[in-house]
Amino acid sequence: METFSITTAIDYVNGEPHIGHAYEKILTDIVARHYKKRADKVFFLSGTDEHGIKIQKTAKSLNITPKELCDKNSKAFIDSWKLLDIEYNKFIRTTDDYHKKTVQDIFEKLLENGDIYKHKYKGLYCSGCECFLADKDLDENGNCPIHNKKPELVEEENYFFKLTKYKDKIIDHIKKNPKFIQPEFRVQEVLNQLENIEDISVSRAKTNVEWGIEVKSDPTQVIYVWIDALSNYITGLGYSTDGNCEENFKDFWPVNYHIIGKDILKFHSIYWIGILMALGVELPKSIYAHGWIMIDKNKMSKSTGNVISPKSIMESFNLKSPDALRYFMATSAIGGKDGNYSDIDFKEKVNADLANNIGNLLNRTLNMLFKYFDGDIKEEFINDNLINKTEETIKEVQLCFDNMDIQGAASKIVSLSDEANKYVNDNAPWTLYKEGKILECGCVLYTILNLMVKIALLIDAFCPNISKDMAQELKFDINIKFKDIKKNMLKTGKLITKEEIHPVFLRLDSEIIGSEAKKG
Ligand code: ME8
Ligand code: MG
Repeated sequence: METFSITTAIDYVNGEPHIGHAYEKILTDIVARHYKKRADKVFFLSGTDEHGIKIQKTAKSLNITPKELCDKNSKAFIDSWKLLDIEYNKFIRTTDDYHKKTVQDIFEKLLENGDIYKHKYKGLYCSGCECFLADKDLDENGNCPIHNKKPELVEEENYFFKLTKYKDKIIDHIKKNPKFIQPEFRVQEVLNQLENIEDISVSRAKTNVEWGIEVKSDPTQVIYVWIDALSNYITGLGYSTDGNCEENFKDFWPVNYHIIGKDILKFHSIYWIGILMALGVELPKSIYAHGWIMIDKNKMSKSTGNVISPKSIMESFNLKSPDALRYFMATSAIGGKDGNYSDIDFKEKVNADLANNIGNLLNRTLNMLFKYFDGDIKEEFINDNLINKTEETIKEVQLCFDNMDIQGAASKIVSLSDEANKYVNDNAPWTLYKEGKILECGCVLYTILNLMVKIALLIDAFCPNISKDMAQELKFDINIKFKDIKKNMLKTGKLITKEEIHPVFLRLDSEIIGSEAKKG
C-alpha cells in the first residue's frame, strides 16, 4: 500500500490566525490533496501549540485562565481552517490528555536512557522564541532580532538534553540525504548552526513557568514547550514509548514532510532530529521550510497593525468559496522564498488565471457545444497534439509536487489552459461551423472539453470548489486517481443543458472595502 503523510507546524494560540499561518496550512492541504490522487492513503496532521510562558502571560493580562484562552483561540484556528477548506485528518491540541501523557513518557524515557541530565544554568531567555539565546544571537542593542525585545535573564536548575551526543549523527544524516532539508538552499544554514550546537535546556522551573506539562518524576519542573510541541508529530499519530503504537503511527510514520516556516527550521532539523534519534524512532523523510508572507512587502506585526486574517480577505472580497485565496496564497511565494500579499495582486492574479483563462475557456466551449450541438457530444474525435501536451502536463505537475514546487505546478496548469485558448482561437470553431465543417468543429470542442476534465483534476488540489463545479458540468468523477485518466474522458450523448451552464469562477470586481475591515 502506498501512503503519503504530511504535517504543518502547530500554531501558538497566543493570537488569532493570520494569513502567514493560513499560507502554511493551504500549502500543506494542497500537497495532501494532490497526493490523494496518487497514493492509496494520505494523512494530514495539524493542530495548535498551547503551552508556554507567552500564553500564561497573555491569559493573565486578560484575566482568564490559560485553558480558557487556549480554547477560545484554538477554536479560531479551527474555524479559519474550515473556512479555507483545509482537510486535515487530525487536529491535535497540545492540551489534549493523550498528548500530555505521551510527552511525559517521552521525557521519562530520555531520562532513563541518560539523554537528559539536570544542570544549573544562567541564560537569556526570549519568551517570543521560547528559547535561550546566546550573546551572538542578539542585535547591537542586546535585543532578540526576531521579536525586537530584550531577553530575560533566567537562572534555574533545569533538565538538559544531550544534543551534542547526536551532533555528528545529525550532520551525517543531512549530508547523506540531500532531500532531507528542503529547499536545498537551507541545508548549509543548518549545517552552520550545527557547528556551534550545545546541549539544550528541556525544562523550566514551575516557579517561573506554570503553564506546561509537568515532568512526571519531578513536579517542580515543566517540560520545555518545544519538546512538548515537536512531539505532537508522533503523539498525534498514536506513538507510545512502550511500543504499543496505534495503526496511524504504523501506517504514516515517518511522514513524507514536515511543512514549517523558515524561522523554526533549527528546532525541526536539529532539536527534533536529536530527540528522535535518542528515542530510537525513525526520522521524517523531509523537512520543508517555507518563506514568510509579507503584507505589501512589509513584515506582518501586531505593533505595525498590518496583520491580516484569512477571514477578513474572504469577507472584504465577498468570497463564497476559499478557492481564489487558496490559489493566490499557494502561488504567492516561489520555492521557499518569502511571498507577498496585496489586494491588487490578489485580484489581478485570480482574475487572470482562474476567471479569464480557465473559467472563461470552459464557459465559452460549453456555450458553443450548446449552440452548435444542442449540448450533445456527437463523436469522440480528439486532436492528438493537444491531448499529448495534456498528458505531458499531468506528468510535469506531478514532478513539480515531488520537488515541492507548488507555484511551478500551478503555472504548468495555467500554461496548458493558455495553449487550449490559443488552440480555440487558431481553429475558430465558430468559422468551422459557419463553413459547414461540422465534424471539425465538434473535434475542437470535444478536444477542449477533454482537456478541461484534466485541468479540473489537476487544479482540484488548489481549488476544490471550482474543480467540483467543473466536474458537475462535465459529468465526471473528480475523485479519480491520475493513473485512471484516459485520453477520452467524455462519452457521446447529451453532456449539458443550457440551464446547467454557469461560470465556475466569477471575476473579483467588487470594490475593496476599506482596509480597516481586513485587519485581523
Ligand atoms: O512557531 N508567513 O508557532 P507560530 C508565513 N508553535 N508563515 C508564517 C508567518 C508568516 N508571516 N508567521 C508565522 C510556532 N508563520 C510554534 C511551532 S511546531 C512543532 C511548533 C508560520 O504560531 C511559522 O513559521 O509562531 C510556523 O511554521 C507557523 O506559522 C506557526 O507559527
Ligand atoms: Mg512564531
